[in-house]
Amino acid sequence: MKKDFLQIEGLSRARLLALLDAAQANLPIAEQLAPRKELLAGKVVANIFLEDSTRTRCSFETAVHRLGGQVFTLGASGSSASKGEGLLDTALNVEAMGVSAIVIRTAISGAPAMVARRVRIPVINAGDGRHEHPTQGLLDLVTLRESLGAIEGKRIGIVGDVASSRVAHSDLHGLTELGARVTLIGPPSLVGQGQCGIVKRSELVDISHDMDSIIGDLDAIMLLRIQNERGSSVGVSTDYRQLFGLTVDRAQRLKAGAVVLHPGPVNRGIEIDDAVADEHGGVRILRQVTHGVAARMAVLEDLLC
Ligand code: CP
Repeated sequence: MKKDFLQIEGLSRARLLALLDAAQANLPIAEQLAPRKELLAGKVVANIFLEDSTRTRCSFETAVHRLGGQVFTLGASGSSASKGEGLLDTALNVEAMGVSAIVIRTAISGAPAMVARRVRIPVINAGDGRHEHPTQGLLDLVTLRESLGAIEGKRIGIVGDVASSRVAHSDLHGLTELGARVTLIGPPSLVGQGQCGIVKRSELVDISHDMDSIIGDLDAIMLLRIQNERGSSVGVSTDYRQLFGLTVDRAQRLKAGAVVLHPGPVNRGIEIDDAVADEHGGVRILRQVTHGVAARMAVLEDLLC
């Protein structure tokens, strides 16, 4: 039985496609072209965000509103986490208030799963350490499917800090389950056989340390932020932009119809040049954000309705 939404790894193709279809169906509501649903009327969702967030926190809040429910958010400051109360006790306390689901962001990989084993209500992972960010994975798949049609057989590049990126891990599992070919691109300190077991397990995944040799073959390029908060700047050359950034020159070498994704927040001038982020026709970064509301509505409906 599906109680929680903790990771993309292990989700069946059928479940993934059902969630993508549900997200797509919710898109008119997310875009305010259709009235909100009332499926969560009378229900309260608790966001526990122990790491900072703009997109994920606000889009979960918006998704709950668009489904007719109510939501509150606890952060690391302004809650009793600042007095040393742990995540599990925080979750048990909000469950005791009668909330219907808990959404968790934390620096500790596996912590949402640990909470899910101890509470009766659904737990949704909003990003745990380096492990996964499954709703980001869903919204990325929604964006790719809208832009490219079927994902099967498409060639996708994931560029940058794969080692520390929970987004990359969720994307990898989703993309390979749907039959895309994925190339992980970046310097050896951030992308390597030893850092990503899926490379060894899946024939659909390979590694390149040479962005220029591959950029013209990609149907989509998914840029990642260097995760300085997880120590990723160690070993990263100051030439990162020159070697792996989506500069104006490289963007001109993308194939016609190729799209550019980035989960945000964007380090302009490092992962992507200003002019590319603002003017290139293939950039889908804000479209991803809109899809985030629709995808999170789909997950909430799936677990609560
Ligand atoms: N993509 C993403 O997780 O962004 P936030 O950290 O702003 O939530």
